[in-house]
Amino acid sequence: EKGNYRHFMEKEIHDQPEACQHTLSAYVDPVTDHTHTPGGVDFAKVDRLQIVACGTAGYAGQIGRYLFERLAKLPTDVEAASEFRYREPAVTPGTLGVAISQSGETADTLAALRWCKAQGLKTAAVVNVHESTMAREADVLWPTHAGPEIGVASTKAFTSQVSALTALAISAAVARGCIDAAEERRLTKILMEAPRLIADSIQVEEAVRALAPELAAARDVLYFGRGAMFPLALEAALKLKEISYIHAEGYAAGELKHGPIALIDQGTPVIVIAPTDHLFEKTISNMSEVAARGGKIILITDEAGARNAPKGARTIVAPTADPLIAPLVFAAPIQLLAYHVAVQKGADVDQPRNLAKSVTVE
Ligand code: F6R
Repeated sequence: EKGNYRHFMEKEIHDQPEACQHTLSAYVDPVTDHTHTPGGVDFAKVDRLQIVACGTAGYAGQIGRYLFERLAKLPTDVEAASEFRYREPAVTPGTLGVAISQSGETADTLAALRWCKAQGLKTAAVVNVHESTMAREADVLWPTHAGPEIGVASTKAFTSQVSALTALAISAAVARGCIDAAEERRLTKILMEAPRLIADSIQVEEAVRALAPELAAARDVLYFGRGAMFPLALEAALKLKEISYIHAEGYAAGELKHGPIALIDQGTPVIVIAPTDHLFEKTISNMSEVAARGGKIILITDEAGARNAPKGARTIVAPTADPLIAPLVFAAPIQLLAYHVAVQKGADVDQPRNLAKSVTVE
């Protein structure tokens, strides 16, 4: 049921604090602040992760990769399932195959999972529908608890996937001796703040709605981010394309001068996702080149970031968050932006043209 919301997508954006909370409760003991890995995977015995997924689930996987490598020093590859399954990848025996899927039925992801199994790899599936084929066929189920997602554009399933992957990365870091129990507790406490901060970040809705008419008139919109905000920029662009039919691209901010800058002319909206972190200054200096060419910068940042925004940029101010959970906290603003632009254009938000909720053909 949609309750008081106009669309399922809007409701599901607002469901995210709860979805994140429920998902985390499968991975974190709230009393001890210890993480655990459902299904008994011993990360100390895993040499590599091979993540396979499609679309939004793939972007969650890319965010997961930053975390597994940074926290747990666990080499991680992420690939679109449709490519992985056909390119004869060279996998090594200590690799854990990880499928990520809301539905657990996406044809390419399922085929990639089966391919991993056929190679003799152990497999895990981060899945929201726990009775699905992937949930049954993977050796291990790493559940998300987003509840049913009805809107075709994935929102709460995405943040639930990122929540689960963040907890798993902490758990892997402990198992691999990269962090001690005190650091685990510190990180887990930060992670458990995510539901509250996601709720706070949804408060940007009015600010976002105010920008919608201008963006709805755009032909192209570019998104930039660095670090884990780069996959979020890709997700932001996908979300806008899917439901508003505006051409959008996400880029790593450092790639700007290697091509995309040619797209920027007077009035091109450029949306920069940049919380205050060790990459902030670099991203902002990239943006001065955008401003110099007449690009209209919308900076999604936190309070400190807004104070340091480039001249002429408009800001959407999300809550200040530790980098560990910034992808979770900055997801709602980019989802709300896509949503309100689509509503502004009068598009059918929950049933975008040409798209199906579950893609069971390749
Ligand atoms: C985007 C979207 C799709 C799905 C993709 C995978 O909003 O919903 O990109 O993420 O089709 O679907 P699942 O997660 O069910 O495998």
